[in-house]
Amino acid sequence: MLNKSINYIYTGLVTLILIVFLTACNQEQQENKVLSEKDMIERGKYLVTFGGCGDCHTPKVFGPQGPTFDTTKILSGSPANEHLAKFDPTILQPGNYVLFTHDGTATIGLWGSSFAANLTPDVETGIGGWQPEMFINALRTGKHLGAGRPILPPMPWQTIGTLSDDDLRAIFAYLKSLPPIKNKVQEPKPLNELLTSK
Ligand code: HEC
Repeated sequence: MLNKSINYIYTGLVTLILIVFLTACNQEQQENKVLSEKDMIERGKYLVTFGGCGDCHTPKVFGPQGPTFDTTKILSGSPANEHLAKFDPTILQPGNYVLFTHDGTATIGLWGSSFAANLTPDVETGIGGWQPEMFINALRTGKHLGAGRPILPPMPWQTIGTLSDDDLRAIFAYLKSLPPIKNKVQEPKPLNELLTSK
């Protein structure tokens, strides 16, 4: 009798372990599922929308509800002719202020000025010539193209860079699927240069 119930418990345990093991394998298989190009672009679009990339990287039009995305310029970066208004440098205190331009695509902080990059696949002014590895490395290391100068605030590479390789690849695939827009974004300037050029 005792032997029999031990046997039942034993069989039950083995079955349970088997179920847990098979479920884990199945999940792993699903995670490793290779997405089609179309699904990858969809996933990338979803991440870019939720990630708020357009808040900084898309120029805006202005209506009664305030600024909304300029749908003819999606993710094309800070307009080449963006003009930084005069500002009072005394309001820039350590850890304190970031001043955004009216459309949110350019900023001034203690680091100086920064202009959101053109993320459309234009070869000359956007990411047309980039490889997925450059994109992943840039977001992981916080260095321009993954190897150059530090990427400036307020670009949140520290959080975007925590996404998986697959998700970053999906974002890149979506960006590459956008209509290319020629827009040469200005180079950033350090604060002292901004102040002396006034
Ligand atoms: C709060 C504003 C902001 C948000 C949100 C934002 N970016 Fe940026 N991004 C910037 C700015 C500003 C730059 C330019 C920084 C510089 O010149 O160093 C930039 C630069 C970049 C670059 C160029 C990196 C390089 O190598 O030079 C990439 C790629 C990029 N952003 C991708 C994204 C993606 C993808 C998202 C959304 C998931 C996103 N950004 C969200 C502000 C932002």
